[in-house]
Amino acid sequence: MARFGGKVVLISGGARGQGAAEARMLVAEGAKVVIGDVLDGEGEALARELGPAARYLHQDVTSEADWAAAIAAAEAMGGLHGMVNNAGIFIPRSLAETDVALFERHMRINQLGCFIGMRDVAPAMRRSGGGSIVNISSVAGLRGSPGAIAYSSTKWALRGMTKTAAVEFAPLGIRVNSVHPGPIDTEMLKARTPEQNARRVGMVPMQRMGTAEEVAKLVLFLLSIDSSYITGAEVSIDGGVSL
Ligand SMILES: NC(=O)c1ccc[n+]([C@@H]2O[C@H](COP(=O)([O-])OP(=O)(O)OC[C@H]3O[C@@H](n4cnc5c(N)ncnc54)[C@H](O)[C@@H]3O)[C@@H](O)[C@H]2O)c1
Repeated sequence: MARFGGKVVLISGGARGQGAAEARMLVAEGAKVVIGDVLDGEGEALARELGPAARYLHQDVTSEADWAAAIAAAEAMGGLHGMVNNAGIFIPRSLAETDVALFERHMRINQLGCFIGMRDVAPAMRRSGGGSIVNISSVAGLRGSPGAIAYSSTKWALRGMTKTAAVEFAPLGIRVNSVHPGPIDTEMLKARTPEQNARRVGMVPMQRMGTAEEVAKLVLFLLSIDSSYITGAEVSIDGGVSL
């Protein structure tokens, strides 16, 4: 049987980029996926491409009601065995340039969204016999990130929240790990100019960006039984840039 046969995975912010790569790879490996996002056109197109194993629904991760609907949709598909807290925004500004509204916007989407998600999927995962949560942090959650104070603060928070949840959820049979990508070639990096991105790639020991598919392979490993004794870990996938 395929590695994810009979499993249901919920991916927040999965309409494009890394989340979409994970959805495609999961369905190819036998999973059913619920894709949440605020980009309805792209999310619906992805679900059509993937067929009956995928369902898209509008899910703003700052809304508890939207989380409840996404979890109910997963259970209607057969349970809830995996969840990727992938939704995020990246609006880089220096500390001096960051106003309270921008800081709070990052906190609500990147951090509060992950908190609600972890808290509210746990009962459904328990009903499904356990599960695995993967929180998408960043290298910006492993070291200082000049020019991105709001984003960086949320990605550091995810790293700590992952470890707290890993300890609290271990008795429930739920593992929780964080993934820390370096520069990955997705729409998100259009927040920086091509020159800024080129300078960033110049700092990567492997001298290139990563791809959404490379991150997806790691996420699938952490979602799968292959990582059955791994919890609370922080795994970087960054061409060596965090070293
Ligand atoms: N691309 C990179 O270089 C990089 C590096 C490190 C970490 N990350 C993280 O990887 C994750 C995926 O990003 P990506 O690279 O695929 O970029 P992306 O911008 O393509 O994907 C982010 C997704 O989150 C969705 N989203 C934004 N606000 C939302 C909300 N309120 N509710 C639900 N969904 C929302 C967006 O619509 C988008 O589909 C993010 O958490 C990001 O911070 C990205």
